[in-house]
Parts: sequence; structure tokens; C-alpha cells
Amino acid sequence: MQTTVGLLGCGNVGSGVARMLVEDGDFISRKLGWPLRLAKIGIGDFSDPRPWEPPSGLLTTNAGEIIGNPDIRVVVEVMGGLEPARTFILKALNSGQHVVTANKALLARHGREIFEAAAANKVEVLFEAAVAGGIPIIRTMKEGLSANRIRHLLGILNGTTNYILTRMSREALGFQEALAEAQKAGYAEADPTFDIEGYDAAHKLILLTALAYGSLPALEDIHVEGISRLTPEDISFAAELGYVIKLLALASRDEQDRLEVRLHPAMLPRDNLLSNINGALNAVLVSGHAVGDILQTGAGAGMMPTASSVLADIIELARADHSGVSQRVPPLGWPSLSAEKPKPMAEVRTAYYLRLTVADRPGVLAAIAGIFAGHSISLAQVIQKQAAQSGAESAATPLVILTHTALERDMTQALAEIGQLDSVLAPTRVIRVEDKL
Ligand code: HSE
Repeated sequence: MQTTVGLLGCGNVGSGVARMLVEDGDFISRKLGWPLRLAKIGIGDFSDPRPWEPPSGLLTTNAGEIIGNPDIRVVVEVMGGLEPARTFILKALNSGQHVVTANKALLARHGREIFEAAAANKVEVLFEAAVAGGIPIIRTMKEGLSANRIRHLLGILNGTTNYILTRMSREALGFQEALAEAQKAGYAEADPTFDIEGYDAAHKLILLTALAYGSLPALEDIHVEGISRLTPEDISFAAELGYVIKLLALASRDEQDRLEVRLHPAMLPRDNLLSNINGALNAVLVSGHAVGDILQTGAGAGMMPTASSVLADIIELARADHSGVSQRVPPLGWPSLSAEKPKPMAEVRTAYYLRLTVADRPGVLAAIAGIFAGHSISLAQVIQKQAAQSGAESAATPLVILTHTALERDMTQALAEIGQLDSVLAPTRVIRVEDKL
């Protein structure tokens, strides 16, 4: 008896997986009780750079040596991208091979099709590395917390953006400056759009939502907002008010049991468990009706932490095969997925931080307060800083307002009216405040 693995992709994550299979193969085989062997690594081109060079003879540019090869039981997809990854995974499942993937974008978009193909072929798809890198949150949600009704799930699911926000907050750097540092440190890609505009974290949130609530929302049905418009000024006002700004992933059920799923910058009270998750770390805070709050944190990216999660999946599949018990737990922890959609953002209720840029003259605050009152929005705190040129009436002055909880639709309408006032000199900056979680 032995378990044979084929790898598709040998970039950063693939190299880590290959390295662990080679260097830790004996140790893992001892834990399993039988040999675990890396048979082949499929790559696009022999000349592509690889962070770790596998032993010669393992590399092939012919994916057909792996997919459908009856001697390979577990196919590990770490190529990334939608195609050909989707086609390769479906072919492997249809050939009766188990699949491990780290591909969050693919599962968020084509998860149903892939999980259905696995069920039809009585094989498994595991994806621990797709969410929060080395943190074993998928297993925690799927098995450790399976008896809990999830009240809410909050996450810091992208290391690049968390690193940028940490640098902006600690060193008062501007967004572009902090992004350049993140690129230099190797966190951000050359084209960082996917990370900074929130899509990478949103794909992970979609998968966590499915694990928590049994529905796999479409990206188009959730509110996604990145961090590129945040300024050091807002981060410093937030600190003055006792808050930290994080790119927050949130899934919950509201009082009417409606699903709420959103990804946007949020102000968290300084003493929230997530407020001290800094640098490139990820974290997931889950609140279950029986367990209460639990927090998992660690490296959300990187060659070896991500490989750690891939290897855990490989080991699970090796054991499943050995015992002949496959599909013990459904891929998302539920026997089937519902078609439930998250409620529209306009119907979400949060508190707000608003930074208006106004002329410093009589009646300005009264006019603004009147508009908020007209939309049933109650103000909690108002801070007006002195105009840059002291005494100069009409100079642009920041007016910072914290509101009580309000309906997003009311806030959008109030801000549209406020934007029409002559005394409002620039677009208002808006950050949602989560102080009730
Ligand atoms: N680029 C991601 C991050 C890791 O910065 O967290 C891969 O999803």
C-alpha cells in the first residue's frame, strides 16, 4: 500500500508542496503508516522560475501523465487561474481521482460544479489552503464547529492589505507608499488590484459563508470594497476615536435571520480581538451559539504555510483511501447548498464614520445635521478640527461625524443630499463602524 500524488503547478505554493513531499516524506509516511510518494509535477514550461527545484525526472509538461493516470490517487492543483485549472480538476474527478486545490477564485465561481462532480464520482475535493493559507479554518468550520449555529464570522483574509493598513497606521504612510513597501517585501503582486480591491478576500469569504450557512453566494451578490481610497488622515482620526481600520470580511444572520455577507474597510474598537492582528497575518473570528467566540490566526499566505494546509488535505485523502471511507464529510459540511442570497447592501445596518470637508462658516453643521435628521440618522459624536488657515472663514475644514446604527439606504440618500450643499467642498469619506460584534 502506498499513496501517490501528482502535482499540477510548481510556482510558489507548488514548490512548497513538492518540497514538503520530498523532504518530509519519511516523517509523513511514518504518521500515515504507509509510504506517501510524489510521482509527477506538471508544469507549463521547463524554463519557468521555481522557488525550489524538485529532483530531476519529476517534472513534465504533459498534464495527461497526471490527470487520469490510474497510478496517481491524489491530484493537487496549485496552478491558480480559472482555466485550465477547472478543466483539469473536472477531468481528474471524472477519472476517479481525489483533488486538493488552493484555488479560491475557481471554487468561489465554479464550486457547485466541482463539488457535484466529486459527489457523482464518489471522490473528494479538499481546499484547506484556499482560505487563510496555513490557518486550518476549513476543517474547524466543517468539523470542529459543525454543531454550532454560526452567529457571525469575521475575518482578516488578505495579508497584503493587512500589511498595508498596519504600515499606514504605524508609520502614518500614504496608501501608495505602503503598497510600494508591500511589493518590496514580496507580499503584493506587481498588479495588486485583486488584493487591494478586495476580490481575493471576497472569494475566501464566499467559501467561509458556504461553510457557515450552507449557501455559496455569487461574487456579484456581495458588497466588495477595497482599501485604495483610505488615507492616513482617516486612520489617524480612527485612532483618536479608539478604533482600528481593517479590511473586514463579514458573514452573519441578522435579527430577521437574513444572510448578510460583505467585505469592506471597517473601524473596529481597539479592544476587538481582530484589532491586534497586524502585518501580513490573517485571522478568523467565529461566534457559535454553543462555543462562543473563537479566534484562529496565523500566516495567510506564503510558500510553506500554504503547503502545510495542502499536505494536511493530502494526508486526509490518503487515510480516506486507505480506510475505504470517502466523502465522510461533504466538501462544505452541508449535504446540499441552498440558493439563499445575501440581503442587498441597502438593507444593511451599521454605524458610520464620516469625514466631510466643509467651509468653516455659520450654519454649516446645522444644515448637515438637518439632512441626517431627515433620514432618521442619529449622530453619536461630532469633531470639527480648526481650519488649516486659522480664522479664515470658508477654508476647507474636516468635520468628523460618528453616527449611531443607520440603514445603508438612508445613509446613501443623506450623503447624496449633503454632497449638493455649497458648503461641502469635497466628497465625503465613509467608513463603516462595527462596534457591536
Ligand atoms: N495574496 C493573498 C494575500 C494570498 O495577500 O493574502 C493569496 O490569497
